[in-house]
Amino acid sequence: MNAQKRIALIALAGALSVLAIAGLITWYQVGMVDRTGGFGGTVGFQHADELGGSFTLTDQSGAAFSPGDLETPYALIYFGFTACPDVCPTELQDMTLALDQMDADLADQVTPAFITIDPARDDVAAVRDYVGHFHPRMIGLTGDSQAIETVAKLYRVFYSRVASSEGEAADSYMMDHSSFYYLIDQTGALRRMFTPKAPIDALSVALGETVDEMTPSDR
Ligand code: NI
Repeated sequence: MNAQKRIALIALAGALSVLAIAGLITWYQVGMVDRTGGFGGTVGFQHADELGGSFTLTDQSGAAFSPGDLETPYALIYFGFTACPDVCPTELQDMTLALDQMDADLADQVTPAFITIDPARDDVAAVRDYVGHFHPRMIGLTGDSQAIETVAKLYRVFYSRVASSEGEAADSYMMDHSSFYYLIDQTGALRRMFTPKAPIDALSVALGETVDEMTPSDR
């Protein structure tokens, strides 16, 4: 290869990397729609289209439950476990407060929902007791480990049991898990994700705007 060709190739490679980086930045900006509602960070996220989907679990009354059984157009789901010492209770509480701050006609379109990622301990009764602490309309869902694994995969929820430390009772383990709110519709399609790190006001505004935008205008 002569020097001229080599320089041309290097220039081409350089141009291609610039294009690739520009493409990546555009993808990132399009993908992450910021709905701050006064919060400095990002509250609501767009997400990859392949996320979400229908599932069948067991609700807090012991009945089979799929997104098609929702009595509202949408559900706001949080994945966690009832023995979680502080993160899950705080984030479920925030979800409830955010719904309470929304216009009632928007909040009434959303069922708050808790899905356990610790089915070994969180049976129907445990989940029922737990959701009762947070919101009168909150539903609690559990299932066998396979069913929980399936739904977690659909929404790409990470969870993993933390090994018990020495001398600790076998059933007193902790769970690591990812933490987002997932707004789904009655087909199980994921409509938007929200971060629990946002202040309640910001979450409430972002959630309200999202539901309002999705609601037919002849309401
Ligand atoms: Ni937790």
